[in-house]
Amino acid sequence: MAYKTLLIEIKDSVELIRLNRPEALNALNSELLCELADALGKADLDPKVRAIVITGSEKAFAAGADIKEMSEKSYADMATERLFAEDADRIVATRKPVIAAVAGYALGGGCELAMMCDFILAADNAKFGQPEINLGIIPGIGGTQRLTRFVGKSKAMEMILTGRFMEAEEAERSGLVSRVVPAKKLIEEALSVADKIAEKSAISVAAAKEAVNRAYELTLSEGVRFERTSFQGLFATEDQKEGMAAFMEKRAPQFRDK
Ligand code: CAA
Repeated sequence: MAYKTLLIEIKDSVELIRLNRPEALNALNSELLCELADALGKADLDPKVRAIVITGSEKAFAAGADIKEMSEKSYADMATERLFAEDADRIVATRKPVIAAVAGYALGGGCELAMMCDFILAADNAKFGQPEINLGIIPGIGGTQRLTRFVGKSKAMEMILTGRFMEAEEAERSGLVSRVVPAKKLIEEALSVADKIAEKSAISVAAAKEAVNRAYELTLSEGVRFERTSFQGLFATEDQKEGMAAFMEKRAPQFRDK
């Protein structure tokens, strides 16, 4: 299916999704969010796809929710329309691994979208921020919760109360992004990381993603118990036998997702 706001390519077993509203620095309007949720849902069901990379342009991953679309909305509109919540929930529900490859601005909803992904690779020109306070609102798709979990209360509070941007180097130091790479190499690097994940057993990748995500939802002892059960369950898979046999036979494993 062709989307109006996304460009999609499948490279080997990795789906590369480019946000494509250059005239608005990829601002997330309701159409883009709906298309992105749809594309991720389809990628989840597509056996050819084993990992997903979401990116924007060199200037902007996404400069936030679309202010022009939102400016005349009432409380009743926001409370009753589909606009953000439902599509954001569908994006977060993606079961396959999703990497955000962020160059340029990741602001407001753009920063929130990057944080909904499993991890963020940043170009050296990336700028993260939650500047909603300058518009008389607050972050609306998880920014107050996720940024605080990533970088801690003090930095999140300062960024959200002042609207200041964080450069890539500070974002890496603060734990918001996994790595910073030169802007020109961002896509190549993101695809290479996604390829590495795509080589693993899809069963253990899904289990690992789910277990790490539980760390944000559960107490430590509940999370450790969840992990233990999932770990034990993986011993029922052929891929566990294959992975361990390959180690002992000093060869590369051939996972079959079984
Ligand atoms: N919504 C709609 N349009 C946007 C936009 C946004 N969030 N961000 C940029 N644009 C548009 C601009 O209006 C402009 O279009 P026109 O030429 O038609 O006026 C075009 O993109 C280029 O933008 P600029 O001319 O402003 O580019 P710049 O390089 O001078 O500045 C910028 C770049 C600092 C990112 C600036 O565009 C900016 O501050 N954008 C808004 C950032 C923001 O406040 N984001 C939060 C949005 S609210 C939100 O996200 C709520 C939520 O949590 C869900």
